[in-house]
Amino acid sequence: MELVQNTPRETSIKIRENPKRFLELLDGILRSDRELFLLVDKKHPLPRTYEPKDLVSLDTYEIRTSRPTLLLRKSAAQALSIMAKEARKDGTELLVSSAYRSFQYQATVYKRVVQELGQEAADRESAKPGFSQHQLGTAVDFGSISDSFTGTPMERWLRRRAWEFGFSLSYPEGKEAETGYRYESWHYRFLGKDATQLEREFFFGSQQRMLEFLDTHWEALQKVHRLPSSNR
Ligand code: DAL
Ligand code: ZN
Repeated sequence: MELVQNTPRETSIKIRENPKRFLELLDGILRSDRELFLLVDKKHPLPRTYEPKDLVSLDTYEIRTSRPTLLLRKSAAQALSIMAKEARKDGTELLVSSAYRSFQYQATVYKRVVQELGQEAADRESAKPGFSQHQLGTAVDFGSISDSFTGTPMERWLRRRAWEFGFSLSYPEGKEAETGYRYESWHYRFLGKDATQLEREFFFGSQQRMLEFLDTHWEALQKVHRLPSSNR
């Protein structure tokens, strides 16, 4: 099948080198929830009424939060709690400072940042309502939600190991042209382990490129996925 559109050249080369591994990782992704992989960026908003279906309070998990009743989708909360336990074993206590944000809540966040920084600077670090990954219920901000987080033990632990638990850094350093946002060392999105593995092995650590690829080819990939492997 043809996967040329929205497929980085380096990714096509990698796929040709090891198609079996690519399909193996894709298999896990195509079996899971489409909403985990929705492309939400400056060009792809969510409907203002979009609400994730299975939000749970982090208070019921062993996760340190900066205030009560932060919400996440269940699969993200479960993975986060496993990750927090592992970090604790390594002597790092994770702190979650922001999680699910409704359309309305994001509107108040964005307005505040515009007041603080002015429109231009605000647009580099705060999404307009409808355009935030936080509305998906799978994005998490850790620690101070500011540049002072970079280089702290918590940040370094996450940078090294978050992918093992299915969490991916959404806005890496030096990728503003690609993602639309400046470096946010604190903002991770839960995608599941197959996806973070796919991101590392085939998309050179670019969540943005991988989600663009999945967004473009999801229907076609689902069709092929449903065929017996001899017909692919
Ligand atoms: N800080 C990210 C871009 C957001 O507001 O969703
Ligand atoms: Zn965030």
